[in-house]
Amino acid sequence: MRPFIIVGTRPEIVKMAPIIYECESRGIDYYFLHTGQHYSESMSGLFLDEMDLRTPDRNLDVGSGSQSEQTAQALVGIEKELLREKPDVVLVQGDTNTVLSATLAAAKLRIPVAHIEAGLRSYDTRMPEEHNRRLTDHASDYLFAPTENSAEILRKENVWGRIFVTGNTVIDALENRLPVALKRMNRALTKGLDSFALLTLHRAENVDDKNVLEGLIEGLISLEMSILFPAHPRSIKQLTKFGLMSRIKSGGLIRIIEPVGYLDFLSLQKRCSFILTDSGGIQEEATAPSINKKVFVLRTSTERPEAVDSGHAVVVGVNPEKFPNMIRNGIKEGLDEERRCPYGEGDASKKIMNILGKDFD
Ligand code: UD1
Ligand code: UDP
Repeated sequence: MRPFIIVGTRPEIVKMAPIIYECESRGIDYYFLHTGQHYSESMSGLFLDEMDLRTPDRNLDVGSGSQSEQTAQALVGIEKELLREKPDVVLVQGDTNTVLSATLAAAKLRIPVAHIEAGLRSYDTRMPEEHNRRLTDHASDYLFAPTENSAEILRKENVWGRIFVTGNTVIDALENRLPVALKRMNRALTKGLDSFALLTLHRAENVDDKNVLEGLIEGLISLEMSILFPAHPRSIKQLTKFGLMSRIKSGGLIRIIEPVGYLDFLSLQKRCSFILTDSGGIQEEATAPSINKKVFVLRTSTERPEAVDSGHAVVVGVNPEKFPNMIRNGIKEGLDEERRCPYGEGDASKKIMNILGKDFD
């Protein structure tokens, strides 16, 4: 089997890493392509290093741009690579523009596509990710659904490809890296903080709209707790553009820092009291038995209802009149009870490679 593995962004590097570990331990010769959708050292190079991955065979340097520019540039670049490499199967992970481009390029060349993390739906059409997920699922040959719930969504949509429930590779990645993260814990990041909530925000529908972003910041300040905020470059750019950095500073409760690497972020997840986020991957990571944190989702919907059902996630919305009280109530209900992880046992990558191995070896 010669798989063609594509990544483009921070979460794809994290969640694809366990598949790469499997290829290496099985002696599978894989081609490794990075589209360069994420390119800052703190969003890409650092992640390749900390996940112990080799340098990709090629980086397309697609970079930032409008939705169509980014998707189109990656599409053209990936097609050239596929024509040259002639792989047996293309592996994509998640719902980014990179994933959609890779799927289109492969489907048009009639190369089988394996979609890892298939069947997630937020039903929020404002999200570029929702379009990417749906289109990718309907053009894929292998649909690796993390849960029975996501598999059922795919069955109801009558996708053409074969559906397998495997768990989510995010748990495999986390279990692999957490021991390393805890050994080299960076205490400087939380200096002076006795207890803190960990915040991330980067979804376009939250940070690109001034009213929504301002409301989120005001609501978070009104919680009157220490919040550590490793901010995505997109959020730093938008907070600066909307003049909200000074409000964060004057509020005195939100400590904003550059995005941190995966190892530091894992140890922050372990040490925080609870998580505030609009991230997809972090909703899943919070459910890992070794993290087990309550996560307040600063969005109006989630494509991860399993994390709500398991008692980890609470979708609190973005209305500053409402979400702070929902968070306070959630805290009162208790933060530390035992909960079950809905995303598998950390063996999703083994299951995925066993399935592909049967067809291509
Ligand atoms: C993308 C994905 C999103 C995913 C996120 C992971 C799409 C449509 N969105 O969103 O699903 O959750 O990655 O983090 O694919 N920037 C940098 N350096 C970088 C990358 C981005 O400074 O390395 C800044 C640029 O100003 C850029 C902005 O962030 O314009 C947005 O980057 P982009 O890749 O378009 O989307 P993300 O918000 O990162
Ligand atoms: N992450 C990180 N450092 C940070 C913020 C996030 O290492 O400062 C990791 C996080 O642990 C998870 C992934 O990045 O594995 C999630 O990426 P992101 O929230 O950007 O994207 P999403 O999951 O929403 O697509």
